[in-house]
Amino acid sequence: MKIQIITLFPEMFTGVLGNSMLWKAADRGIVEYSCINLRDFGLGPRKQVDDTPYGGGDGMLLRVDTLAAAVEVAKANDPSAAVILPTPRGKTFLQSDAKATAASGQGMIIICPRYEGYDERITQWVDKQYSIGNYVLTGGEIPAMIIIDSVVRLLPGVLGGETSTEIESFQQDDQNIEFPQYTRPEDFQGLKVPEVLLTGHHAEIEKWRQLQAKKASE
Ligand code: ADE
Repeated sequence: MKIQIITLFPEMFTGVLGNSMLWKAADRGIVEYSCINLRDFGLGPRKQVDDTPYGGGDGMLLRVDTLAAAVEVAKANDPSAAVILPTPRGKTFLQSDAKATAASGQGMIIICPRYEGYDERITQWVDKQYSIGNYVLTGGEIPAMIIIDSVVRLLPGVLGGETSTEIESFQQDDQNIEFPQYTRPEDFQGLKVPEVLLTGHHAEIEKWRQLQAKKASE
């Protein structure tokens, strides 16, 4: 899966994509990340990418012409990729969206807005608009990282050796919260591991886990 990120701050992705499972996924050839620097599409000697809003108002907006030029380069690299725009005005991004994206096998082109926003006309180039929650961040980079992380971990071969990604939190979006887990020591400062987990009785353990998961999602 090709994942292309259109951003003014490509360095923000170095740490996140260059470590742990996201890095491993790329190392195994399951994904290929690339950042497209929006500045390269800027206008004039100052490589301007933003401008003041028509009708007045605070701040600057990303221009549609520079954004569209960057999207078109990304599309030429991967014509069937889905273009994703993180925005607080989008549909809430859920586990079901991560699953559908991972299962589609389609690449992703993620546009990361900055400043006070973007010219609305860029949505003509966009397939999906997602909010990662009801709060406002300074830009689309962190939402892009969240979307990438949640999708890549679901791709076959990324979480090799672990138990199925099916039995975990948010399996059906907001139901089935994961059950609590414990490891050694058995007793830490008087905090004991629940007795049932030490019995080796698999059916009882399974029953207890299901009950805990149910309780947590109430
Ligand atoms: N950009 C700023 N805030 C955001 C949010 N909550 N979700 C997606 N994109 C954003």
